[in-house]
Amino acid sequence: MSNQTVVVLDFGGQYNQLIARRVRECNVYCEVKPYTTPLAAIKAMDPIGIIFTGGPNSVYDPASPHVDPEIFTWGVPILGICYGCQLIAYTLGGRVTSATDASAREYGKTKTYFDDACPLFRGLPREGITWMSHGDYLEKVPAGFALMGHSDNCPTAAIADESRKIFGVQFHPEVNHTENGLAMIRNFLYAVCGAVGDWTMGDYCKRTVAALRQQIGDTGRVLLALSGGVDSSVLAALLAEAVGDRLTCVFVDHGLMRKNEGDEVEAAFAKWQVRFVRVNAQERFLSKLAGVTDPQTKRRIIGAEFGYVFRDEADRFHITNQDFLAQGTIYPDVIESGEGDADVIKSHHNKLLPPEVVARFAGVIEPLSLLFKDEVRALGRELGLPDYLVNRQPFPGPGLAIRIIGDITREKADALREADAIFREEIANAGLDREISQYFTVLTNTRSVGVMGDGRTYEYALALRAITTSDFMTADWARIPYDVLDRVSVRIVNEVPMVNRIVYDITSKPPATVEWE
Ligand code: XMP
Repeated sequence: MSNQTVVVLDFGGQYNQLIARRVRECNVYCEVKPYTTPLAAIKAMDPIGIIFTGGPNSVYDPASPHVDPEIFTWGVPILGICYGCQLIAYTLGGRVTSATDASAREYGKTKTYFDDACPLFRGLPREGITWMSHGDYLEKVPAGFALMGHSDNCPTAAIADESRKIFGVQFHPEVNHTENGLAMIRNFLYAVCGAVGDWTMGDYCKRTVAALRQQIGDTGRVLLALSGGVDSSVLAALLAEAVGDRLTCVFVDHGLMRKNEGDEVEAAFAKWQVRFVRVNAQERFLSKLAGVTDPQTKRRIIGAEFGYVFRDEADRFHITNQDFLAQGTIYPDVIESGEGDADVIKSHHNKLLPPEVVARFAGVIEPLSLLFKDEVRALGRELGLPDYLVNRQPFPGPGLAIRIIGDITREKADALREADAIFREEIANAGLDREISQYFTVLTNTRSVGVMGDGRTYEYALALRAITTSDFMTADWARIPYDVLDRVSVRIVNEVPMVNRIVYDITSKPPATVEWE
């Protein structure tokens, strides 16, 4: 029997996959479809509910995305979020206006009051913080709708027509900043749409394996770009399940790995029944990076060089242009690299393959590209991967290159590698490695004066970075006990050349990012 399905209709907002992820968290199967999907195709999916996402447009702009109005008489429950809410109101005869008065615009955390007669808010506190991001607002609610929430500046934060099962919220329940946002989505799914919670990661795994088999075919082969991190290891397991020995995993050591990383990855994969190839390309990468200081240029060089190495390996293994290249790209990589309508925050390395490399293969497959980190981990557990692989902290593809600010030299990389190893060792000794999501050291480009022994030093300041997060889209800095920080600081300054000062980075994301470059 197939699962109940919810359709998320995408109107171009920045975090639309987050809505899908929240639905999955509620154990309901869900697919994101563009708003242009014909109503007949949506009907054919037989959904139990539809969610309209946010989006950057104004509904009264004739060029803005709209829907077939028949969707409102069909009888399937609808929840509109932000632009989606305005679209419901506008289409059904309400009025949406641009907030000329700045006080009617709302951006950020907003105190909001709810009517718990509305099924969305049932059982939840009657007031709480929501995340708002709108310049337009709902001036007149359409006939049949009741007001179900307001904020100090906006009288129309939530609307509902219970008889037609159509709901709209001006705020974003999908983001963590909205208190009880997940519970509101759960209420929509369970109290309004009649969800039974019949979807699991096991289902996702089966569907993805089946889809991969279909895409790759009975004879197609796959070259997997393997870094040994969580994402590409999970993908290796998924592809091994789908195509067995037609998979070749290529691990590229670019000379900017953590201490012992290459040997550890090789040892871990030696235990698997997959073809594993290690390419030692230290010279190739370090010479291309010599003298480069700009973060995006470093990323571009590394992304391209990875591509050329894969192309060379493909030639070596007689991979044809009917075969595939696979990458463990996950959703935050896609969104932060600025695909779709989102701004480029930084180009993640796997989004920088040169076009001629892409053209070398029948296609580039990225089966994890809709998943967040913790979902990838759940999938890894589903596939039976060992805990030490699934729970590893992330390590970015460009490696230490984006943790050495300014130009990269072998000496700096060696120093940073040692400092990083000490930090990791002390965090593990303190038993903090499971509660901190990611922790590493950064070699800043700033030198300062110190005194060691009886002599003056003029060496680099090294930053410690440690964060807690579930999805890596937002993060907080970890409150590491002072005595642990002290041990790390003393050890690094004593044991690592080129470093005479340690600072601790206490910035959350946003406004900072996790990595410094
Ligand atoms: P930022 O710095 O964007 O990092 O806040 C979010 C998460 O992504 C990792 N990261 C990368 N991972 N290739 C990767 O595989 C990359 O180019 C890349 N850049 C950042 C970062 O370590 C953190 O976990």
